[in-house]
Amino acid sequence: MSLLRHLALIATILATILNIYIYTYPSLDSNNCDWQYTYYNEEDLSPLQHSLLGLPYIGDIYKHVFFKEDPRLFPEPMDLRIMAIGDPQINGNWPSTRYMKRLDNYANDWYIGHVFRTMKPRLNPQIVAVMGDMFSSQWISDSEFYNRTKRMITRLFPRPEAQTAAELGFIGRYADVDWRAHYRWFNQALNEGLFKNSSSYSYSEVRDWTSANITEEPLFINITGNHDIGYGDTTYQHMCRWRKLFGKDNFWIEYAKNTDHAWRVVVLNSLALDGPLLQPEFERYDWQFIDTLAQTPYNGTTILMTHIPMYKKEGLCADGPFVDHFNKSNCPPKANCKIGLLKSENHLQYATSQRVLNAVFANSSGIIMTGHDHVGCINYYNYDPETSTWEASKSVTSEKHVTELTVRSVMGEFEGNIGIVTGHFDRNAHNWDFHYSTCSFSIQHVWWAAKLSLALAVLLDTLLVIR
Ligand SMILES: *[C@@H]1O[C@H](CO)[C@@H](O)[C@H](O)[C@H]1NC(C)=O
Ligand SMILES: *[C@@H]1O[C@H](CO)[C@@H](O)[C@H](O)[C@H]1NC(C)=O
Ligand SMILES: *[C@@H]1O[C@H](CO)[C@@H](O)[C@H](O)[C@H]1NC(C)=O
Ligand SMILES: *[C@@H]1O[C@H](CO)[C@@H](O)[C@H](O)[C@H]1NC(C)=O
Ligand SMILES: *[C@@H]1O[C@H](CO)[C@@H](O)[C@H](O)[C@H]1NC(C)=O
Ligand SMILES: *[C@@H]1O[C@H](CO)[C@@H](O)[C@H](O)[C@H]1NC(C)=O
Ligand SMILES: *[C@@H]1O[C@H](CO)[C@@H](O)[C@H](O)[C@H]1NC(C)=O
Repeated sequence: MSLLRHLALIATILATILNIYIYTYPSLDSNNCDWQYTYYNEEDLSPLQHSLLGLPYIGDIYKHVFFKEDPRLFPEPMDLRIMAIGDPQINGNWPSTRYMKRLDNYANDWYIGHVFRTMKPRLNPQIVAVMGDMFSSQWISDSEFYNRTKRMITRLFPRPEAQTAAELGFIGRYADVDWRAHYRWFNQALNEGLFKNSSSYSYSEVRDWTSANITEEPLFINITGNHDIGYGDTTYQHMCRWRKLFGKDNFWIEYAKNTDHAWRVVVLNSLALDGPLLQPEFERYDWQFIDTLAQTPYNGTTILMTHIPMYKKEGLCADGPFVDHFNKSNCPPKANCKIGLLKSENHLQYATSQRVLNAVFANSSGIIMTGHDHVGCINYYNYDPETSTWEASKSVTSEKHVTELTVRSVMGEFEGNIGIVTGHFDRNAHNWDFHYSTCSFSIQHVWWAAKLSLALAVLLDTLLVIR
């Protein structure tokens, strides 16, 4: 055999194995890469089909390619199915960005997109939640913000055109946001007390925000991250463009209200709770949201989604307690720095965390989903009724407790992780049980290798044929 023939063979084998792997990786870890409960009708299957399904890996591929869940087997109420995406933090290109880095940014979009395109049809979730930090920096122009949003909508997390036409249309005009008008709207609303009125935040039974009303597609929830809007340096410009393209920063949606299985999603902007802020009125507004939520009677389960995790002592997650403020020497160029403002923090501060937990979970059970700590972890906040305080721990020590799921990042360095949250209603105990697993892909180089080996195999095989 000639050298070319050898190389072509090796490249073809490598490309085949790698490409099968990248499209079927969830089947290698089928327990962690699926909902806790699935509903397949196995009654009419032949013995051969049964034994095929029982095989590791192959059985899982067979199941996901050839079978659909049988809605007749779904429990009532149906399980809650949430697919969580931790901190994508996509980069952008500056005029000075080198060619290799540009290529890397481009490929990274498709790498994360690959994870999404593999997991979304597999899971068919009811909700997709991006846990904040869509972008790598809050110090970017409107134009760059639009360009990254467009990449997010078209490459990373593509959705039906009917649902994204408004955002893409707005982006296409490339007009800077009118933050002055936003300033006037915001301050008028604040002065008139609109942010103390639950009708500013409260929704019910939302399955699709858009007029497209595509109810079989997941509801796409965006959570503000420090790299999207900033900490103490947040401006009206940041908030205006966020609201324009990603929606409200604070809201809740109630489902199955007035039933024994009521549940709600609460989305909280955790960046304006701990100041000091450049615009202290954002802090006032954020706390008005918390207070309004606390005063709204609720009898059900809550899924609190926010970017920054609650306070916890060292060692419970990768990030320990940490808070930093702007000073003379640590202000990056282009940042809207004022000495003393909040620069960054790993957790919400202790007192803030207590207030948030008490407001949300005083009379409600549930879970917290956060991002920010890229490694991810699970902790339990145990409630002590004597002191009315919550304390994070690796174990449950109190009857009243709330689980915090810090979702591991989807970035390549963290193996393209996806967080999978199943809520299952326990008919006997009359409450929602939650189950969480993480589904890992591989570092981005494996995906790169699959694509490059495929290109190489096609090239070499073509050369062989035309030679
Ligand atoms: C965003 O994309 C548009 C259209 O491709 C381009 O004209 C503009 O320069 C980009 N903005 C930045 C900051 O690169
Ligand atoms: C809250 O807002 C709603 C709708 O805008 C309005 O009907 C209601 O009167 C407001 N409630 C208070 C207490 O202002
Ligand atoms: C959206 O579609 C669902 C059925 O898929 C229907 O029940 C609902 O009324 C529709 N909502 C609107 C606002 O059209
Ligand atoms: C989240 O952001 C996407 C992308 O801009 C948008 O299409 C979607 O409607 C937003 N979701 C909400 C709940 O506002
Ligand atoms: C809350 O809802 C449950 C189930 O419907 C009911 O049994 C209970 O009495 C309610 N509690 C209050 C305080 O309304
Ligand atoms: C929570 O329960 C307590 C005691 O039952 C009650 O006083 C309070 O009003 C309730 N709060 C909410 C928001 O439902
Ligand atoms: C400014 O803060 C940084 C931490 O962000 C710290 O290392 C540095 O010592 C501080 N500088 C001054 C002048 O206080």
